[in-house]
Amino acid sequence: MSRESPHLIVVADADALAKAAAERVLARIGHASGRVAVCLTGGSTPQRLYELMATEPYRSALPWNLIHWFWGDDRYVPQDDPRSNAGMARRRLLDRIPVPAGNIHAIATGGASAQEAARLYEAELRRFYGAERLDPERPLFEMVLMGLGSDGHTASLFPGHAELEEKERWVTGVDEAGLEPFVPRVTLTFPALASTREMLFLVSGHDKREVLTRAFSGANLPATRAYCDGEIVWLVDRDAAPEHRDVA
Ligand code: 6PG
Repeated sequence: MSRESPHLIVVADADALAKAAAERVLARIGHASGRVAVCLTGGSTPQRLYELMATEPYRSALPWNLIHWFWGDDRYVPQDDPRSNAGMARRRLLDRIPVPAGNIHAIATGGASAQEAARLYEAELRRFYGAERLDPERPLFEMVLMGLGSDGHTASLFPGHAELEEKERWVTGVDEAGLEPFVPRVTLTFPALASTREMLFLVSGHDKREVLTRAFSGANLPATRAYCDGEIVWLVDRDAAPEHRDVA
């Protein structure tokens, strides 16, 4: 599942999950003294977290001027489309706080294709990082948030898709999504997602229990193939918690 054993934290419910995640974000970047990058995830699970971060005590405690926001994946739709991951994070978080416009690095979806958007985003990430190669000693991100699909996908890395094997590119287009919404996607690859001090999976709800049980039983799923230069943490609520685990 990772280079080191993943750390599983089980909390009571979706509200507790959002709070625990916000506390981890705060602990990780609250005291940043220079520019830091955070990679956001899409879907429904992180929505409460994003709303929570726009409220106290997080609102006053996070160094908004220093945080640069990126996305692990997006659907190739305009930002005002309800399916847009960037649009969702803007409405629930970024539009509600004093974040400099230059700190928001959304995946551009108005161009020729998802493949072209991936090339542009890769160039943007490389510019921000200041090098063509990722150095495990100097991760690109402080934190990467990740989700888990019922088929085991994470970001837009779907089971059986060629993008799972990508070793060189940081970002790639996905012409056909493996799950709804069936629109082209743009996704960071495993090597780019791995370049972080903390990879935090957020998983909530009963309908994730089966796939999470498979993940923690060693199944080969995109989410379990994700690796990380830093720490991998699975933050899950009790409804989603894998069976046969000793949960708190
Ligand atoms: C996307 C995602 C995706 C998501 C999972 C979980 O754009 O679809 O980023 O990887 O995190 O599908 O989504 P839910 O939180 O909605 O279950």
